[in-house]
Amino acid sequence: MATMLDLDASVLADHLAEVTDWVANLAGAPQKIADLGSGTGTGTRALAQRFETATIYAVDSAESMLERLGRKMAENGLADRVVQVHADLDNQWPELKELDLIWAASSMHHVANPSKTFADTFGALTPGGMFAVVEMDGFPHYLPENLGFGEPGLETRIRAVIDNRGWNKYPDWEPQLVAAGFEVQQREFTYDYAPDPSVVGPYAHVMLANVRAGLADQLSAEDLATIDALLDQHNPEALINRTDLQLRGGRTVWAARRP
Ligand SMILES: C[S@@+](CC[C@H](N)C(=O)[O-])C[C@H]1O[C@@H](n2cnc3c(N)ncnc32)[C@H](O)[C@@H]1O
Repeated sequence: MATMLDLDASVLADHLAEVTDWVANLAGAPQKIADLGSGTGTGTRALAQRFETATIYAVDSAESMLERLGRKMAENGLADRVVQVHADLDNQWPELKELDLIWAASSMHHVANPSKTFADTFGALTPGGMFAVVEMDGFPHYLPENLGFGEPGLETRIRAVIDNRGWNKYPDWEPQLVAAGFEVQQREFTYDYAPDPSVVGPYAHVMLANVRAGLADQLSAEDLATIDALLDQHNPEALINRTDLQLRGGRTVWAARRP
């Protein structure tokens, strides 16, 4: 998961910048920011770089994620403005209040009781403060329809299995945010581009290796053989040797303001 999150940050940096631009336009100049479920710090870093004088509180229940985040912030010269907060949002809200901006990317569908977390978030914001909830619109697409071997449409079949498993499932958060007292705007951000193969190849490799490890029992023998060939670094058709990978996907963002 941590490797995947770091790769996600480097491959989709421009897409993330588009999202933080929009949030920055709505949020003004926040000085006190929290990143809920910060993981390895993709959002924390983007926020610290976007808001150059702000302090960012990176909140996560996993110490291993926070350790990795701490190393990354130090490498990027941001350690003096990023505070690690080890807390489980399902239990007690951490000692954080009078925040100007709260960011929660791909984390609200993990908490046990989102309504409680939204109410906690509302209480921790200053009036006029902004809560940005970000969710990925499913697993990114990256394979061509026809790989030149195997049955065409492998990615569509993989997506069907993933959807069936309920991975990354979340509701439209707007009703629960409104019930907590927020005024909500919603926007979709999409991307469709061919990043440098040396960057997208390893990213696609990690994603497909996760699929191979987790879903092998639900894919046909032919598709598994195709996946193995794509993961075999000595194969010229492998993901890390291909030049035809195109990343397609998107994110939904709910910008919720405390009146
Ligand atoms: C899919 S990751 C997203 C990480 C990061 N926001 C990003 O966009 O790359 C979800 C993160 O939420 C954290 N998380 C899940 N449940 C949590 C909870 N109850 N309290 C605090 N953090 C939680 C996980 O440890 C994980 O780091």
